[in-house]
Parts: sequence; C-alpha cells; structure tokens
Amino acid sequence: MINCKSQSELAKMKRSGQIVRQVLDAVKALVAPGVSTMDLENAAEEKIREFGAKPAFKGYCDYPCVLCTSVNNEIIHGIPSEKRVLKEGDIVSIDCGVVLDGYYGDSAITVPVGKAIAPELQKLLDVTETSLKRAIAEVRLGKTVGDVGAAVQEYVEANGFSVVREFVGHGIGTRLHEDPQVPNFGTRGHGTRLREGMVIAIEPMVNIGKPGARVLDDKWTAVTEDGSYSAHFEHTVAVTRNGPLVLTE
Ligand code: MF3
Ligand code: CO
Repeated sequence: MINCKSQSELAKMKRSGQIVRQVLDAVKALVAPGVSTMDLENAAEEKIREFGAKPAFKGYCDYPCVLCTSVNNEIIHGIPSEKRVLKEGDIVSIDCGVVLDGYYGDSAITVPVGKAIAPELQKLLDVTETSLKRAIAEVRLGKTVGDVGAAVQEYVEANGFSVVREFVGHGIGTRLHEDPQVPNFGTRGHGTRLREGMVIAIEPMVNIGKPGARVLDDKWTAVTEDGSYSAHFEHTVAVTRNGPLVLTE
C-alpha cells in the first residue's frame, strides 16, 4: 500500500530532509585522513540531537548507529568503528536518516578522503551522483518506478560500471521504509505509476566491477563480491504536479 502525502505532510518531510542535509554537510567537512568512522558517527549524533530530531537508523532492526559509513569496496550499511581510520585515497559513503515530528528523511553521499583521488574513483563518484540526478528527473506524473530505475541503469552501464541488484530504494514517510520498492534497474513504462504526493528515496549503489554483493559476518556490511570499489548517493524525492521536489537538499 502506497501512502500519498498532503502538502502539510510534505512540508514536514522537507524539515526532516533539511536536517539530514545539514548533518551530512557537517560530517562531510570532517572527512580527512586519520579520522575514524566513529568520529563521523559521534559528530552526526550530536548534530541530529542539536536539531531536536531523532536518528532513523539507530535501533532499526537493531542497527547500532545513526550513520552507515561504507568505505571503498563496502557498498552500504558499514557500521562506524573507532578502528576504521580513513586514509588518503579512500572513498567513504555516509548515509543518514532522521525523524522529526513523525516524518522521515533519508540521504547519502560518497566523498573522497584527502586531496589525491584516483581518476577512476572520481569517475565512479561522478557517474553515481549523475545517475541519481537523472533518476530524479524521471520523478513526474505518468512516469513509473521502472523509468526511475532504467534512468540509473542506462547511465551507469553506458559508463562501464554496474548497479547493485540486492538492495533497492524505497517509499518513505511516517516510516523509514514504505512501499514501493525502487530498484536501480528496470524497464521504462513498467512498475508502479508515480502519483501526486508519493515520496521515494532513490539510492543508486554502483560498483566499478561486477554487480554482485554479499553481507559480512557482522550481518550488516554489504561488500562487492569481486572486491571492486562502490559508491552510493541517495535523496528523498516527492512527486508533485510541478515535477520532482527533492526534500533532502
Ligand atoms: N538508506 C538506508 C536505507 O534506506 C539505510 C538504512 S540503515 C538501517 O535502507 F540500519 F536503518 F537499516
Ligand atoms: Co534509504
């Protein structure tokens, strides 16, 4: 069942989304060689509480933290740790969700650590972020979830990378995960038709190598099967009669 949101609900979701954005901006500014992913976690938790919001991930299915921090070959759901110290040349995906006044926001970025990023990794970040922008451009009345996924897949594969199949985006609102599922692959014109007030979190996960993923023994961290690097970007986006409304920017 898909819950379409009213104008006043979208206004609340915009507030949650803006908090997520400010938390991610603050955490991004801290990313540097020698910083641990637990340092990022602690800064994020403090910021979230400062805004009077609650973290969306901590406690969700017993997930222990407010951020997911996924380094290099980790795709998503990396658990912050003081033992995971970032170093020059790494890339780190930072995923954050909050709930304010009963409504959720969810967004992710992937950023380079230090100054010298390998050209292939810069391309991975650019292609993944652009695939998200192209997917957002499909968020229009009459388009379908298949159009959104196809936009990601077409662009990523045209650039020689692959999209992860095991994890997908999702509807979002008064729960972190609502219907429909939003895969990063699909067929144009297929799947759920987008209607006014639908809100979806679109989150392309892109591997340099093969698309396969597996989950580590910690039961959370998803890594690429072939060890290749992976990037992840996410926005929470509403369907309006005027086109896409990005709630997390
Ligand atoms: N952005 C991810 C998602 O929507 C993060 C969830 S982490 C979890 O699924 F711990 F909350 F599951
Ligand atoms: Co999400």
